[in-house]
Amino acid sequence: MTCQGKVSINDTSGAEAGADMGAEVRAALAGDPPSLPCKYFYDDRGSRLFQEITRLPEYYQTRTEESVLERVADEVVAAVGARELVELGSGSGRKIRLLLDAMARAGHLERCVLFDINERDLEQSVRALGRDYPQARVRGVVGDFTQGFAGVGPGGGRIAALFGGTIGNLHPRDVPAFLARVADLLEEGDGFLVGIDLVKDKRVLEAAYNDAAGVTARFNRNILQVMNDRLGADFDPSAFDHVAFYDEQNAWIEMRLRARRAQGVRIPGAGVDLRLAPGDEIRTEISCKYSRASLEAKLPGTGLRLGQWHADQANRFALALLVRDPEARR
Ligand code: SAH
Ligand code: AVI
Repeated sequence: MTCQGKVSINDTSGAEAGADMGAEVRAALAGDPPSLPCKYFYDDRGSRLFQEITRLPEYYQTRTEESVLERVADEVVAAVGARELVELGSGSGRKIRLLLDAMARAGHLERCVLFDINERDLEQSVRALGRDYPQARVRGVVGDFTQGFAGVGPGGGRIAALFGGTIGNLHPRDVPAFLARVADLLEEGDGFLVGIDLVKDKRVLEAAYNDAAGVTARFNRNILQVMNDRLGADFDPSAFDHVAFYDEQNAWIEMRLRARRAQGVRIPGAGVDLRLAPGDEIRTEISCKYSRASLEAKLPGTGLRLGQWHADQANRFALALLVRDPEARR
């Protein structure tokens, strides 16, 4: 734990996230299809590349979500009566300011917790928010939200948030359990504000993951560099093509890396020797697209019910306010 005045960072990642990256990568590569866990995109270079993606003309998600959030922040804050904001997967911590401003306007901004797997992003965001919102106590927790939320602590007057459509990066079968874990962070009447990328024209979706400038391709290949840096692997990222396509049946974008030629790759930290033929693919990410109905179908038994639904005019992206409701757990 590092502390500076009203700002602190608590690292829970060793205890729960990282425990064994090698074993996790080994299991993912042995799967069908072989994959790599997408949380490993986000080393410092990957986080910077993601920032670049958010500014691409094809990547409508970020600016659409921000415009919806600007419009509804006061309504969301009023419905929850929130005194504390917890952002999961906070990244640069930019969107959260729209909510913090709404809480400040309502006169009850007391605490803010940022939770992310990337420590550097977290430190920068926590410091910047601590400086700009001196009335709030700002904490950062380094951790893996697929594992749990150690270090966040109990709720009450809390609004949790997961922006960007990041919930889409979870496999749909894991979403109910994830939502139930978030519900455990909340007291009755607390809220969970989730950014949802909506099902839409396949061409719009595929363009967002195949940008003309090639930034998403660099982001995708960077996961191999992370394997080299952290597991001593000898991937040659330039020997892989970026592939991204919309799978209509599963309603998800799938990103893959396709071997350009026959190659052998050693990953000592995972105890894996890969032999790849030309055209062999590794799945690196799914990004699920939802509708109001398909999101609602994930809620029964989680302890959350849909309180508010706000989409942009073109129905590209929505913010769903899920409300903690003990009755909804049955
Ligand atoms: N909230 C920002 C960033 C989205 S990018 C936005 O809406 O633009 C996804 C963020 O989630 C990154 O900051 C990444 O570091 C973080 N992240 C990804 N997987 C994670 C995991 N398993 N646990 C915690 N944080 C994770
Ligand atoms: C963070 N997440 C919601 C992004 C997405 O769109 O699924 C990550 C990303 N992958 C490629 N481009 C952006």
